[in-house]
Amino acid sequence: RDELLFSYKGILYPTAICNPESFKALESFEARSDDVVLVGYPKSGTNWLSQILTDLIAISQKKTPGTESSGNAEGARDFPFLEMGNAEKYERISKLPSPRFIATHLRPDTLPKSFFKNKVKILLVIRNPKDVATSFYHFCNGLPVLPSYETWDDFFTDFMTKKMTWGCYFEFLSEWNKYADQENIMTVTYEEVKENPALAVKNIATFFGIPLTEEELQLVVERSSFQSMKKNSEKTHGTVGNVLFRKGFVGDWKNHFTEEQNKKMDKAFEERIAGTKLGKKLKYDLYCK
Ligand code: A3P
Repeated sequence: RDELLFSYKGILYPTAICNPESFKALESFEARSDDVVLVGYPKSGTNWLSQILTDLIAISQKKTPGTESSGNAEGARDFPFLEMGNAEKYERISKLPSPRFIATHLRPDTLPKSFFKNKVKILLVIRNPKDVATSFYHFCNGLPVLPSYETWDDFFTDFMTKKMTWGCYFEFLSEWNKYADQENIMTVTYEEVKENPALAVKNIATFFGIPLTEEELQLVVERSSFQSMKKNSEKTHGTVGNVLFRKGFVGDWKNHFTEEQNKKMDKAFEERIAGTKLGKKLKYDLYCK
């Protein structure tokens, strides 16, 4: 376990895809005001929203989604998230034409300051903690670069005690909550995108100032459905594809949580997140009880 992970500023990351030198180099990364940025805690639907955003960028450039690269042709050969890969990556990204698409799992206190200084538009995706934990558990056991768990109970204990890669779910939300009122930040929940994908895509496009015809909207919705993303996953994500596109629905936590674990999570949510703007947006009582 110790070999698989390293700690940077008190947060754990997987050694195979991140490294302390890149984190150092990242600190001086220059974000541009027209970057299209996606932020989400791992397993909140970040790959899903990435698909939606890259298609929207393609449309904004009058390209047909999926047929051409969407402005991040160079970046596409890198690891998809800002903090993954080696330090030279930032040199390459700095040469890409606008608008660049940037995705990250980082908390605002770890994200380079230029993102805030330049008032970059950020889409924040959040998901209910019970499904995030469930998804994360299967991800850890499916991905060799992450520590695996013999039992769900062991994983649950670590999830509740900050031992996750990219840090603690609750801290991620409370840190981002400090920015939730800013007009350059839009928050969507996994659950609301699932419930009404067309409305979510429309709102996201409006936020980034991308006009959409009805036909284009339908195309983005269809290409980002769980079925089509899973079908294409080997092409888009290689061998990680089948681990990444697992079930894709709301409520799989019911097949994992014991009564006692439910109580623990409910208590932690109530104490730490429930009263915040992001906490309320998650509709915990609807999706987690
Ligand atoms: P499950 O493990 O619950 O199935 P991330 O991309 O942030 O790692 O999140 C992964 C989770 O998002 C997985 O959840 C995955 O199945 C789900 N997901 C990925 N694409 C999706 C889509 N198009 N629609 C709904 N869920 C999707």
